[in-house]
Amino acid sequence: MRPNLIFEKVLGRLQRSRLNRRAVQELSRSLALIVDREALEASVAARIRELFDPDRMAILEPDPATASFLPGFSFGLKDSELSGLRLAARGKLARWLAVNETCLVLDRQPGVHEYLDPAERDLLDGLRLNLCVPMVSLNRLTGILLLGSDRPGWTLNRADAELLNLLASQASLAFENAALYRAQRERLDRLYRAERLAAVGQLAAGVAHEIRNPLTAIRSTMQYLLRGLDPGEPKHQLVEELLREVDRINSTVGGLLSLSRSGEIRKSEIDLLEPLGKAVQLVQARAAEQGVAIESDLGGSARRVLGDSGQLKQVFLNLLLNALQSLPGEGRISVAVTPWPPLRGREDAPWVQVRITDDGPGIPPDQLRRVFDPFYTTKRDGTGLGLAICHGIVEQHEGEIQMDSEVGAGTTVSVRLPWIEGSHGQRSDRG
Ligand SMILES: Nc1ncnc2c1ncn2[C@@H]1O[C@H](COP(=O)(O)OP(=O)(O)OP(=O)(O)O)[C@@H](O)[C@H]1O
Ligand SMILES: [Mg+2]
Repeated sequence: MRPNLIFEKVLGRLQRSRLNRRAVQELSRSLALIVDREALEASVAARIRELFDPDRMAILEPDPATASFLPGFSFGLKDSELSGLRLAARGKLARWLAVNETCLVLDRQPGVHEYLDPAERDLLDGLRLNLCVPMVSLNRLTGILLLGSDRPGWTLNRADAELLNLLASQASLAFENAALYRAQRERLDRLYRAERLAAVGQLAAGVAHEIRNPLTAIRSTMQYLLRGLDPGEPKHQLVEELLREVDRINSTVGGLLSLSRSGEIRKSEIDLLEPLGKAVQLVQARAAEQGVAIESDLGGSARRVLGDSGQLKQVFLNLLLNALQSLPGEGRISVAVTPWPPLRGREDAPWVQVRITDDGPGIPPDQLRRVFDPFYTTKRDGTGLGLAICHGIVEQHEGEIQMDSEVGAGTTVSVRLPWIEGSHGQRSDRG
């Protein structure tokens, strides 16, 4: 080779590596400013596209509920292809990536290709994704990048692989930051919500007592008057209507009182499936009448928690009724009990999660923020206390309640409670 050519080649390589270094620096600087996971993924994908020009790509995120990695951001893949793209969190590919912490080029590492689960192999081959990059932070696999190209010469040299590993680890750190930021914000939101509810509860307790006494007198007088009236008379109907209104006030006052009943909870070791099963049973008939199917997957084995069975039944009943009321006619409600979180190495503090999902109209984001507020209701005869009460009860159980909703798709409420240690039968179902 002519000296000039060698010089140009070395210079080219140097320039390229300098450019790449700059690309990583720029990426990590810009990622530090973003706290939204979706925006982060879009930014990472754009940089990878610019540097490596793949034909298709997917960033898989951990999904604790299904103990798998599912696509977040992607390009070059059809919806039908994405819907089948799922890798088990404990599958061979995830394990290989977590242990080796380096890219895997499937067509250059036939041994590893052979080692993978046949389903994983078929999936990746079928989607022509032949490059897998682990996203690792703090020794934990926090995501998987999958890339593929149809161009014959498209492959990675060592420098490319190093760059890609570096990018993935920068991205992983940024995702962790974003998750921490989100968790912190959710914690603060919960704190504000709890404080607001406590204040309302104290105020309500005082007022409720004052209302209850005269209300009892009003009700018994009205019943006395009713007895003197002929059922056919219009006055009889009027008084009956008034009685119904009084009962409505009474149940609102009852709801207000339960917002502040912090002392009244009696906890003992119970099987969570008991209050949940009872609540499902109670709404079953009403659901059937409405043409709504309630599918429950209660997981079989006992989930013991320290709780007040009556109060927890109240929580599940409120949530099931909300789900039922959200469905205009026929629909589907599913109830699932799963360990929480099945991922993320929190084996020392296992929780149990109850998810109640409906395929109703969903809740727009600006309303979703207010659903736990006392008196927030969109129903003509709702009190708006149901969720506030649920929140109070779950809080007293040292648990958490979360509502996720998507307009047009439906709503999921998750109730998570600390599990009594040693009560979980099969560890293997914890993803
Ligand atoms: N599963 C759901 N789907 C859609 N919207 C819901 C769902 N659950 C709750 N909501 C919304 O949250 C609001 C507050 O719910 P909450 O249970 O606190 O009160 P409510 O149901 O309106 O009244 P009450 O519980 O006294 O009947 C509801 O009015 C509704 O707009
Ligand atoms: Mg309700």
